[in-house]
Amino acid sequence: MEQKIGVIGYGSMGKMIFSKFAQSKAIDTSNLFAANRTFEKTIDLNRIYPEINICGNNCALAKEVDVLFICVKPLEMKAALMETIKNIRNNCHIISLNGSILCKQLEQICINKRISKVIPSATAEANQSVTLVCHNNFVEDEDKKF
Ligand SMILES: NC(=O)c1ccc[n+]([C@@H]2O[C@H](COP(=O)([O-])OP(=O)(O)OC[C@H]3O[C@@H](n4cnc5c(N)ncnc54)[C@H](OP(=O)(O)O)[C@@H]3O)[C@@H](O)[C@H]2O)c1
Repeated sequence: MEQKIGVIGYGSMGKMIFSKFAQSKAIDTSNLFAANRTFEKTIDLNRIYPEINICGNNCALAKEVDVLFICVKPLEMKAALMETIKNIRNNCHIISLNGSILCKQLEQICINKRISKVIPSATAEANQSVTLVCHNNFVEDEDKKF
């Protein structure tokens, strides 16, 4: 069964993730979930991709997904994770797009969770990005391949 993927933060990076997943058909859009602090912005996303699931808040999204991309600014990261963590599923793989926050800092909130950092550059818009990737010790080979 295909994994359900959630994205918290529908800004520059969140938008790019949705459009690239959809264009590449790497993921069935009905398995994508979105939540953004300003809910109204995600209505736009649903106009473009009606199958994508829009969630009213981060907790509703976290209950649904197997993989969770956190696409908020560094200063917003702690608050976004703190309000979400109790609803993140046990087995969820958490992926941060931020370069400056360390895995070990994320682990202080996301205890015993699989955590990866996946940092694209803006050139990913043109499908020409070098992406930096690193993982914590809970991430297994199968997750890395995914
Ligand atoms: N932009 C790049 O070229 C780039 C490249 C590599 C990595 N990154 C990293 O990617 C991450 C996102 O950057 P960005 O440029 O996409 O930022 P952005 O355009 O400012 O988007 C951030 C989004 O997060 C939402 N948000 C903030 N707090 C939230 C919360 N608690 N719950 C739900 N949504 C929340 C904001 O909602 P509102 O609509 O309410 O403001 C906004 O839509 C950053 O950590 C950045 O370091 C960015």
